[in-house]
Amino acid sequence: MDIIHKNKSLSVRSNLPDYEKTYQEFSWEKAKAELIFFPDGTFNAAYNAIDRHAESDKKDKTALIYESDKGEKESYTFAQLKEQTNKFANVLASQGVEKGDRIFIFLPPTPERYIAFLGILKTGAIAGTMFSAFQETALMDRLADSGAKIVVTNSELFSRIQKIWKDLPDLQKVILVDEGDFPEKEKLISYQQEMTTASADFNVAHLKPDDFAYMLYTSGTTGKPKGVVHAHADLLQAILTTKYVLDVKDQDIYWCTADIGWVTGVVYGVLGIWGLGGTSVVFGGRFSPEAWYKIIADNKVTVWYTAPTAIRMLMGSPVDPKQYDLSSLRHLCSVGEPLNPEGVMWGKETLGLPFHDTWWQTETGSICITNYPSMDIKPGSMGKPFPGVVAGIVDDNGQELPAKQDGHLALKPETVYSLMKQIWKNEEKYKSYFNNGWYISGDQAFKDEDGYFWFVGRADDVIKTSGERVGPFEVESTLIEHPSVLEAGVIGKPDELRGEIIKAFVVLKQGVEPSDALKEEMAAFVKGKLAGHAYPREVEFIDKLPKTRSGKIMRRILKAREMGQPIGDTSTLEEY
Ligand code: PRX
Repeated sequence: MDIIHKNKSLSVRSNLPDYEKTYQEFSWEKAKAELIFFPDGTFNAAYNAIDRHAESDKKDKTALIYESDKGEKESYTFAQLKEQTNKFANVLASQGVEKGDRIFIFLPPTPERYIAFLGILKTGAIAGTMFSAFQETALMDRLADSGAKIVVTNSELFSRIQKIWKDLPDLQKVILVDEGDFPEKEKLISYQQEMTTASADFNVAHLKPDDFAYMLYTSGTTGKPKGVVHAHADLLQAILTTKYVLDVKDQDIYWCTADIGWVTGVVYGVLGIWGLGGTSVVFGGRFSPEAWYKIIADNKVTVWYTAPTAIRMLMGSPVDPKQYDLSSLRHLCSVGEPLNPEGVMWGKETLGLPFHDTWWQTETGSICITNYPSMDIKPGSMGKPFPGVVAGIVDDNGQELPAKQDGHLALKPETVYSLMKQIWKNEEKYKSYFNNGWYISGDQAFKDEDGYFWFVGRADDVIKTSGERVGPFEVESTLIEHPSVLEAGVIGKPDELRGEIIKAFVVLKQGVEPSDALKEEMAAFVKGKLAGHAYPREVEFIDKLPKTRSGKIMRRILKAREMGQPIGDTSTLEEY
């Protein structure tokens, strides 16, 4: 740790007041001055993200620059986004959408999904977002549990909804952003048609700051994904962290590479950046080093928020970034999985700027631990808590541990303004996050003598593959739907590029012949049913799964076996 301790060479601009002073002076109450409340004390995040700027001298400032995979560009000013989101809110209102209804967005990266998201918030309904790689099982889990009333999608993705609609009694209508001729005609709404005639005036819903704004389904160790619900005023922490961590200033061109189906895409692709009145780039194409460097060069991106797997892919690619003019970049941040010191240094050496790691979760709603622009980076560390946020390392009883001891990374819930407000219809699950006055993140970490936090690993079986969170149970449940599978146990296997890959241990039904072709068939089966990113890249056939006497699959034993490590305590294990 000596070489990384106080690595002054990575110290960057000091454009913040001394952050130690900021810690002392910070209060969420004072920070609320960043938000606009209506005169009666009510609030709306979409009003704060769009309308307040559209009604100010920022009205003609570009809010959204969209570039498709074919290089076609569209841009929207704050005034234009206000008009479009008002229209969409009117389209929803004309369908009887009310406060608290769940409206889900299932679209590839296009301007419509941003318009839809903010339009939903304007009505007081709750916006849900879904990754466009989701297949019927992942869609079913989310739409059924949330009782979604309307889905906004396109005609290509609609075919997946079509297959499950009969099992979704709450789903009344589907809004198609493009035209399509489907048998469900009377339950389909044309976005284009409705938007042409909708009024551009809308009375934005006046809500309590704690009223729900959006929900995101995320995976844990057990059960199906859970609906993490966030409130309108959670926007405050998104704005402050965009300002002080991502360091976005008025003239910046900012690019957050995350998809809106994940929390980073919602919080830092929509709420934080527009809450702050900044300009955001959205790329409609897939990852490739050439395409990504081109987006930075063509749009003169200055602030870039991306993820370790992408950084590692860029590092390992033969494409030379020096072929592109990336000189506009001035601040780089990363999130989602451990950022190796090599990634930080690659930024410094290749782009002239180190990556600043940030740590947070779907549940925390915004960045909580981070490397500020003005801090000395210790490559490999997640940094220090954001002002106002109190973080600690605690043991299983919620007792705080001293520096340099591994334990649960925990937060004082009352200090995390954007912390989830509910797990949808699952009070028990919500309560399970808290212990002795701490919110327990599920991550293992330690704190060093300077107060920097270091990630150690997950405390549970949650898998992080290419930065995306996958629950082993979801993959296991999908695998056992395959006619040849008797049982399956799924783990995250460490992988240099993707952080982890999904590995499945499968017990075949009697009489089924194991073969490589069958392994491939199983991977494709999960990909086609669950999601494009959540399939096992490795399948191994085994005779028996390690289980507790009560029948629970012991994934930790599968993992130890995979890694050639000692199996540990097996006292609760059924004979294996
Ligand atoms: O395990 C941690 C990892 O990602 C988890 C949260 O995943 P999700 O809810 O999908 O949100 C991701 C984007 C906010 C955490 O519990 N994680 C996130 N950031 C880091 C990280 N692991 C190590 N270092 C990080 N900077």
